[in-house]
Amino acid sequence: MHRLCLILIVCLELLNEHGRVLSSNLAIASGKGHSFSLLSPDKVSKTTYSLSTSAWTGVASTASCALRTISKCPLSRGFLYEPVARQCTPVLWLGQGSGGTVVPPGSADAQPGNLYVKNQTSGLCPNGFEAVEYGSEGLFACILYLRTPRSYNSSTSECNRLGGYLVSVRTEEKLQMVRDLSQGFFTWVEIDDQAQEGHYRWQEDGELLTRAERNALFYLSSLSHRNNLLDCVFYRYKYHKLFNFDCSHQIMALCESRPKSIVC
Ligand SMILES: *[C@@H]1O[C@H](CO)[C@@H](O)[C@H](O)[C@H]1NC(C)=O
Ligand SMILES: *[C@@H]1O[C@H](CO)[C@@H](O)[C@H](O)[C@H]1NC(C)=O
Repeated sequence: MHRLCLILIVCLELLNEHGRVLSSNLAIASGKGHSFSLLSPDKVSKTTYSLSTSAWTGVASTASCALRTISKCPLSRGFLYEPVARQCTPVLWLGQGSGGTVVPPGSADAQPGNLYVKNQTSGLCPNGFEAVEYGSEGLFACILYLRTPRSYNSSTSECNRLGGYLVSVRTEEKLQMVRDLSQGFFTWVEIDDQAQEGHYRWQEDGELLTRAERNALFYLSSLSHRNNLLDCVFYRYKYHKLFNFDCSHQIMALCESRPKSIVC
């Protein structure tokens, strides 16, 4: 495989398991099959609640909660409503552990811990990165597709130069997001064992791959043979799993970035 890949054209043909040619536009999986959305500004403006300038806490209803969130923090992604504590917390960035249950569209009932998500992601990601929704809990990631095939280290450097890192794939929901974006191409993700053979570490925080992550995400037999040449990891559409691979192969990559920090 490595030698065949020395010829870029042949390599691309081999690596695209769909047999498709990369389109010039990034396909965004946004909104597909997700139970998102909820309180649009229009809907909120029809309520009889008047705008208060007081703090986020102490509101009595989802409507006034939404009004406060939207007017004080227009770029917030949504808010968590806690009628028991009478608290409304704006949510800027829905990462793992944001908590709450995403309320179905049109629902008027405010339940403790419900997470209300605005059906828009514009303005949340740094320049060049697009907000991509994934999973069913209102999560999104800021993503940029590197269409020029590069080695693992070169992809890492390019993502760093653009203000991000190779895409982090630590959950099955995230694996599905990569499937939707990879367009059938082999795509680098952010884990390798270059520093110490057999010790796969996530670039993001230097943590070791856990057994649970390994079992859920990897094509296991690709990890079973300790091989000095296969230190890097890519997503393979055909198996919908992560595989290890020679770091010098030149393939596509997805960069990820933290969302912009928004001050309310
Ligand atoms: C959210 O926005 C997308 C794109 O604008 C739209 O297709 C989708 O129907 C919206 N979802 C809901 C539940 O309103
Ligand atoms: C790639 O980067 C790693 C870690 O920064 C380094 O140890 C390794 O030597 C690099 N490999 C190449 C081929 O440059």
